Amino acid sequence: MKMKDNRVLLTGGAGFIGSHLADKLIEMGKSVVCIDNFSSGNMEYIDHLMSNPRFTLIRADLFKEDFTEALRDCDCVFHVAANPDVRLGADDTRIHLNQNVTVTHNVLEAMRKKDVEGILFTSTSTVYGEASVIPTPEDYGPLEPISLYGSSKLACDALISAYCHTFGMKATSFRFANVVGPRSTHGVTYDFVHKLRKDPQSLEILGKEPGTQKSYCHIDDCVSGMIIGWGSLEGRFEAFNIGSDDSIFVKQIADIVCEEMDLENVKYLWTGGVDDGRGWRGDVRTMLLASDLLKGRGWSPLYNSEDAIREAARCMVQEIS
Ligand SMILES: NC(=O)c1ccc[n+]([C@@H]2O[C@H](COP(=O)([O-])OP(=O)(O)OC[C@H]3O[C@@H](n4cnc5c(N)ncnc54)[C@H](O)[C@@H]3O)[C@@H](O)[C@H]2O)c1
Repeated sequence: MKMKDNRVLLTGGAGFIGSHLADKLIEMGKSVVCIDNFSSGNMEYIDHLMSNPRFTLIRADLFKEDFTEALRDCDCVFHVAANPDVRLGADDTRIHLNQNVTVTHNVLEAMRKKDVEGILFTSTSTVYGEASVIPTPEDYGPLEPISLYGSSKLACDALISAYCHTFGMKATSFRFANVVGPRSTHGVTYDFVHKLRKDPQSLEILGKEPGTQKSYCHIDDCVSGMIIGWGSLEGRFEAFNIGSDDSIFVKQIADIVCEEMDLENVKYLWTGGVDDGRGWRGDVRTMLLASDLLKGRGWSPLYNSEDAIREAARCMVQEIS
């Protein structure tokens, strides 16, 4: 689908990925209507956009409030808002159902009422579960998520596909590897930087040494992938993987973060984890995505996992100092 869309609704635009998308869309000359309830978003991430006449902020909760009117004159929706914390699902079995599945249904219903044709969805590698094919392509199956978060995003993918075919909409679903970069609000790099700020001598690490082995994607690659994927959509619905071409162990991430914080001889305190060394219940042990589909449309990642983590750690250290 061509990026002709001039007025865009962006959900979760005050969060990590959403605020970078807001910057990109404004830079591209679009008008952006951002809805956020600031449950994990941060006003500081969008402060610089507030005086721009092409940026509108609506403080609203997509789960509880009717936001249909916000879609007036919008051509498409970047649906980024969600509860992205994979760990929570093991303790609260309703949170991802509410914040991810029901909120996505609310967005689709509002689009249907206002005749909005296009949606870009922020999905995840966790829909693949513990894949037996690595790197994992988009047509891998059967899809057996092992976290409630992953299952909620797979349900969203399915809902969006069905809305496209039933109501004539078009959609791309982007299945991200772990995304890192400035303004990050969660994730292993964020955890390590914040823990080491409190205690520069030791670092608690969830799991068993050397930890899980996953792919990390820089936010710039994530944003460029979304724009290219949307611009090249074929048919009504397509899912695209977005990730770097390699993966690294948690121990390597700890080493990189320590280097970037100029810390030496930090004692790593591995918790041992659950289910033979996973960080938490529902944590996938190995993740690397095949992104050939998006590469075939002209995208390629600028960062490998190590460089993405290094750059993200450097920015986070600057952000909090
Ligand atoms: N960061 C990653 O590594 C990663 C990986 C795969 C997928 N994703 C997906 O990308 C999206 C963005 O993730 P992120 O890392 O930027 O998370 P984030 O927590 O920084 O951003 C989410 C934003 O949505 C807002 N929000 C949440 N619930 C809302 C509601 N009910 N109403 C209005 N606003 C609400 C939050 O306040 C926040 O600003 C999520 O859908 C997440 O599942 C992220």
